[in-house]
Amino acid sequence: MQDELPTIFAITPTYARPVQKAELTRLSQTFLHVTNLHWILVEDSSVRTSLVKNFVLNLNDLANQVESGLKITHLNVETPAAFKTRLTDPNWKKPRGVLQRNAGIDWLRDHFKEASPSSPSPRGVIYFADDDNTYDLKLFEEMRSTRKISIWPVGLVGGLNVEKPLVEDGVVVGWNTQWEPQRPFPIDMAGFALNLQHLLERPQARFTYNIRRGYQESHIISQIINDKTELEPKAANCTRILVWHTRTENPKLGHEQKLKVASNHGMEL
Ligand code: UGA
Ligand code: MN
Repeated sequence: MQDELPTIFAITPTYARPVQKAELTRLSQTFLHVTNLHWILVEDSSVRTSLVKNFVLNLNDLANQVESGLKITHLNVETPAAFKTRLTDPNWKKPRGVLQRNAGIDWLRDHFKEASPSSPSPRGVIYFADDDNTYDLKLFEEMRSTRKISIWPVGLVGGLNVEKPLVEDGVVVGWNTQWEPQRPFPIDMAGFALNLQHLLERPQARFTYNIRRGYQESHIISQIINDKTELEPKAANCTRILVWHTRTENPKLGHEQKLKVASNHGMEL
């Protein structure tokens, strides 16, 4: 068991909107190409919706046809109304995906709670993979060897072409971040991965609403390491961009309101 490749546990919050199935399709068809990936897909919803249930059923069929061994766990938890981003809110106003990522972490803690020194939990890596970013397959092979926390550049984020750690002699010595650069670890959620064992050993480590906007990443990383020099730079010492913080336009569906019968009547969108 321990000789096997470490499993990548990708935790993805997702919520209902017109592009949801398109986003999940795009993301899952990347994941189908990654060896030993366990996808923890967490709906921001009070129930597991039939759209996502159907999507997961079909994906399991696809997964059985390929050799990579994609596993899927489908969970749900609803963001309380007070913390929900409204359509009219600017996207940065409230943190997104907080409870969903915690539900993924809790599932891992529960799933591996029987682990002991004689029967250890599998070697694994946790990555918080939002449903709208664009991921190069090489990224997953980079993060697989994470011992504590690995880190790499993220394209198209924070008002820059790329946000990245500055690396000298294989050690992170600073950041090129412009947005809130005083954060302890000023990087996007897409820019780091955690070793499973290190997270399991810290039962308090989780996301929270009780911190300043933009501090979620720093908060979780700070619970595992104290200093940036402990980070493991990946992607050729942080000189390559293997993930982009793409954001999908909200489609204009104004004509749909005029129809008596939805244009996709009988068709799942
Ligand atoms: C940025 C970061 O890249 C996110 O990791 C961070 O969660 C977010 O800011 C934040 O402000 O909290 P951004 O592109 O603005 O990302 O956020 P989204 O991609 O819209 O949302 C992040 C994740 O949460 C996505 O997987 C999305 O599907 C999910 N989400 C979003 C929900 O589960 N519920 C929502 O109401 C909104
Ligand atoms: Mn996003």
